[in-house]
Amino acid sequence: MNQPDIYSRNNTGQMTVTSQLLDRYLDPKTWIDGEAILEIGTGDGQYTVEKFLPQLPDNIRRYVASDTSEEMIDFAKKKYSEKYPKIEFIVLNCQTDDIPTGLIGQFDHVVSFNVFHWFTNARKAIKNIFSMLKPGGELIATFCIVHPLHDIYTNLSKHHKWGVYCHQICDSRIALSNHPLQMWETIFTEAGFVNEVKFCDLEINWHCTDFEGFFQALDSVYSKIPDKDKKAYLNDYFEEVERGKAFTITRDEKTGKREGIFRSDIVFVQTSKPSERVL
Ligand SMILES: C[S@@+](CC[C@H](N)C(=O)[O-])C[C@H]1O[C@@H](n2cnc3c(N)ncnc32)[C@H](O)[C@@H]1O
Repeated sequence: MNQPDIYSRNNTGQMTVTSQLLDRYLDPKTWIDGEAILEIGTGDGQYTVEKFLPQLPDNIRRYVASDTSEEMIDFAKKKYSEKYPKIEFIVLNCQTDDIPTGLIGQFDHVVSFNVFHWFTNARKAIKNIFSMLKPGGELIATFCIVHPLHDIYTNLSKHHKWGVYCHQICDSRIALSNHPLQMWETIFTEAGFVNEVKFCDLEINWHCTDFEGFFQALDSVYSKIPDKDKKAYLNDYFEEVERGKAFTITRDEKTGKREGIFRSDIVFVQTSKPSERVL
């Protein structure tokens, strides 16, 4: 996902659902002054700055907002750095083999909203997140149990014309599992997380009026397609979406415009790294 402009015009669904989950399950005002927080996948930075930061204690020591996409981080930096100098915007792929040593064991809280279902190697990502927490630190995340577009991107990756552009296929072991939630639970506990991996789930039914904008915002290959092919690509992409499981599509008879009901199971997860034992 590398089109911050389009994402920031089409992120109402994500912002609303995250707010609903956090309002229901989290009170970050109880966090202690002076703590350090790392966010994985801040995207365009809008949820972070406009919704999440105002809920935190005034005196947080450090807020690192990271994303694997340089485009997203550049956009967020340009938009928010001057007004919010305390936020460090950094490019970080949390599935890397080389987490910078300066990030290891540094954070009291790692937070992440609408990101984990994009991981292609969830085991690696969760282990890395564990390594960046301090002992006793806590992970808070919201994400779809199974990536709602897994089938759509898998089909596009096999397409005779668009397959070469390499759609990001999310972790297929989870998407194709009969028990995806249990798989996530195992991934967290194998990484070392304790204190019960707490899952609270929400079934979303979300009415999406700008169908094309929403899907274009999530696409990672559009910018790589030559201009002359862009229109044909979008046609094929939206057709694939209509065939996919994520949406039930309706068409306005007069305008031909598509609208859709989006369905997904999304979870709020709260879990901790064990504290160091005092001998
Ligand atoms: C749907 S957006 C969510 C953005 C923001 N958190 C929100 O809720 O609006 C998902 C973001 O996760 C980022 N992302 C995906 N895989 C990642 C990874 N392995 N490491 C860090 N960020 C990742 C994408 O670049 C994208 O900006």
